[in-house]
Amino acid sequence: MFEKSAQLYDVIYSFKDYKQESEQIREYIQSRHPDAKSVLDVACGTGKHVEFLNQHYKVDGIDLNKEFVALAQQRNLDSSFWCEDMTQFDVGHKYDVVMCLFSSIAYAKTLDAVVRTVQQFSNHLEDGGLILIEPWFTPDAWQQGFVSMIQHQTEEYHICRMTHADTENELSILNFEYLIGSKAGIEHRKERHELGLFRQEELTRAFESVRMKVEYDPVGLIGRGMYVLRLARWK
Ligand SMILES: C[S@@+](CC[C@H](N)C(=O)[O-])C[C@H]1O[C@@H](n2cnc3c(N)ncnc32)[C@H](O)[C@@H]1O
Repeated sequence: MFEKSAQLYDVIYSFKDYKQESEQIREYIQSRHPDAKSVLDVACGTGKHVEFLNQHYKVDGIDLNKEFVALAQQRNLDSSFWCEDMTQFDVGHKYDVVMCLFSSIAYAKTLDAVVRTVQQFSNHLEDGGLILIEPWFTPDAWQQGFVSMIQHQTEEYHICRMTHADTENELSILNFEYLIGSKAGIEHRKERHELGLFRQEELTRAFESVRMKVEYDPVGLIGRGMYVLRLARWK
């Protein structure tokens, strides 16, 4: 996913306020783990949360997309980034906080894979650490057939991305079509993303199955909610 749009990602999501979100993330951390010093951003994309959180913590990241990993590294020279699959990884370090934002967890697609993924997060957690997971839509909230459009302009090109939301075999499908206009002409690209749709109770049970104590904030950073997990033995 994002294979045909990695270089466009920051332009397409320029409406997203990463600074403000990072301040909110810091509040989640400070209020629960004021001694935290290190953060691992799982599915870090182009490293924009890392850029702001780096002012307070030592932040590293992983992502499956190697172009994103390179962009994140360019943006954050003092951090380490690895091209890794969140469902199975070992970066050889532990962190006070492991976070997985902007619904990236749903790319695991199935609850079994979510369980495996959170087990990896737990393996990378220092004693007393926190896991922050910003979820995707629940099945009830998913609007099959919904169409949306984003357009943006830089000095080099105009981009228009139209999205059609679908459902297949209990997965949410995002069909993206891009029109990228530049001096060279207008290019058309297509991308299909598949994300799991999970109910709150299902995610809570999945997290509890890997011995996590689960706190749920229904609002989170952008209205999608936020799960705050810690190992059940920590108060
Ligand atoms: C919606 S983007 C979020 C990126 C970033 N966290 C942000 O807030 O902008 C989803 C990210 O999940 C990554 N991703 C999807 N599946 C993954 C996997 N199995 N392992 C690691 N990263 C994955 C994608 O490459 C992409 O960077």
